[in-house]
Amino acid sequence: MKNLIQSIFILIAVVMSTTVAQEVIYAQVGGTVRLPKPKNIEDGHYVFWNFREKNGPRLARYNRFIRYVTQEDLPDEWKNKLTFDADSLVISNIQQENFGTVVREVRGKVIDTITYKIIKINVPLNPPLLLPGESLTLTCDAEITQGQKPRIHWLNPENTRAGHGGTVTESAKNQHNGQWTCVLTNNEKQSKAKVSVTVIDLSPAPSSSQYTSKSSSVTIPCSRPPNIPWKQFKTKGLKRVQWRFFPKPSSSPEGPQTLMDLGVGELMNWTGPTHRKLTASNLNDGNLSLINTQTTEEHGGDYECCLTFENGRNLTRTIRVEVLKIISSGTFISGQQVNLNCSTGYALPPDVRLQWIPPPSSSQQKSSHHSYIIPKVSTGDSGKWKCELWRNTTRLTSTTIILKIESNLSGWMLVTICGAAVIVILTCILVLILHRRRQRKMRHLRHRVCRCKNPKPKGFQRS
Ligand SMILES: *[C@@H]1O[C@H](CO)[C@@H](O)[C@H](O)[C@H]1NC(C)=O
Repeated sequence: MKNLIQSIFILIAVVMSTTVAQEVIYAQVGGTVRLPKPKNIEDGHYVFWNFREKNGPRLARYNRFIRYVTQEDLPDEWKNKLTFDADSLVISNIQQENFGTVVREVRGKVIDTITYKIIKINVPLNPPLLLPGESLTLTCDAEITQGQKPRIHWLNPENTRAGHGGTVTESAKNQHNGQWTCVLTNNEKQSKAKVSVTVIDLSPAPSSSQYTSKSSSVTIPCSRPPNIPWKQFKTKGLKRVQWRFFPKPSSSPEGPQTLMDLGVGELMNWTGPTHRKLTASNLNDGNLSLINTQTTEEHGGDYECCLTFENGRNLTRTIRVEVLKIISSGTFISGQQVNLNCSTGYALPPDVRLQWIPPPSSSQQKSSHHSYIIPKVSTGDSGKWKCELWRNTTRLTSTTIILKIESNLSGWMLVTICGAAVIVILTCILVLILHRRRQRKMRHLRHRVCRCKNPKPKGFQRS
């Protein structure tokens, strides 16, 4: 009886210690799987990992003294994939042929076996390059085992949940660019698959206008974000790059113009109009910035950088260029009113400040109003008047006008000189008239004398 009870106990112990457990592991193609080593390995224990699919190979063996991943006779699909690290057998860069069952056996006094089912997570391998507005579709699923259906959700690059279940359908946006994660939750255990999504776009246009003034150079920026290589634009089928100009209606009678045109082929050359001094940056960097080297007042307006792709989609950025200029009106004689106006023709944003700087010889004050009225100019106001635009401590641009104020005195002098000249002329005329008159009188007198000498004077005949 005692023996019987003893053997029952032993039997129970053996049954209990010969556990056959199963564990499900999810992985994506290219991913890594870690199969843990058993804890508390004793001297007489041997651990084997066998791939059981189609009587597959022994992958590795391990005991207290040796750790050994199989090298010889290992089928090609397992080569260079197996390593040990501190506590696991690691299968890296897992491929289609590596999904299946791996059995870990511990042989010693008892046999302890655990079966790992490595199941593929189906996610897009190479999601297409997308342009904003194109459809972004991501699906994620996995084989259902033993009736266990994992719960699936997606995390977007900002790590917040997206889509419904295993599906994401969105219109592609800039912020979709980056790594998406499919999360499978099974028995409170999470497995993840990662997918890289690329949404091609240009860097955002500057939020404010580019300010410039006559004769200055201005750079009109347009470039790719540093994290999207230029090569990807070409892969996506970039066909044409253009710079277009929409002049400010009041400053130029001309309509929209194409300034630069680039066919993307072997030749990466800009062709553009010759009447404007324009240069473009080094295109091979994907820097499309345009440099307008000799600004005139007609160059204010909207500049559009436009990329056209083979599928007909466009990427555009519009940058406003504002040209600062001064207009003056009034009479430039001291004592008179002079009006100056400094503006770009557009309203200034609240963070941009205007500053008038009168010439040093002037007694006028600085001002921050567009229009500067000098009620009574003086000759001291002659010189260079400067108008500047500032954002915080940065001077954005500046322009100048030169005022020449005539002194009022010289005006009077002019009047005096003119008066004197008139008097002189009048005097001359008077003198001339008097002179003529005298001459005529003299001639008359001589005439009379002549008649006296006449041989038949009446008086003498009578007497
Ligand atoms: C592009 O080129 C312009 C002009 O050479 C330069 O000012 C700008 O910093 C460049 N932009 C980038 C993003 O490299």
